[in-house]
Amino acid sequence: MNESAPLCRLDDIADGGAIAVQVDSATGGFELIVLRQGELVFAYHNECPHAGRRLDYAPGQFLVSDGRVVCAAHGATFRVDNGACLGGPCSNGLVPMPVRVVDREIRLR
Ligand code: FES
Repeated sequence: MNESAPLCRLDDIADGGAIAVQVDSATGGFELIVLRQGELVFAYHNECPHAGRRLDYAPGQFLVSDGRVVCAAHGATFRVDNGACLGGPCSNGLVPMPVRVVDREIRLR
């Protein structure tokens, strides 16, 4: 079985927080926002569907509270657990990236 390298460890992310993780690929790679709620982890492309900006206000620093993440550019708000747009200038949700936790390591599915 071809196992991908872990993105990070579960303990790299504060409970209720988020980090940015760079994923390398043959086409130049991309960046994810990886969010943690207890033992659950959710990952999305770090690109806001409103105007394509990064979600973070500084590299790897995200506005996350009460199960919501807010885009730092213009305030679009998304659910942590499914990426759905909750308010602000977004009409679409975040683009998800399936991940799993194995032995407290977070990996792409
Ligand atoms: S780019 Fe995120 S709210 Fe505008």
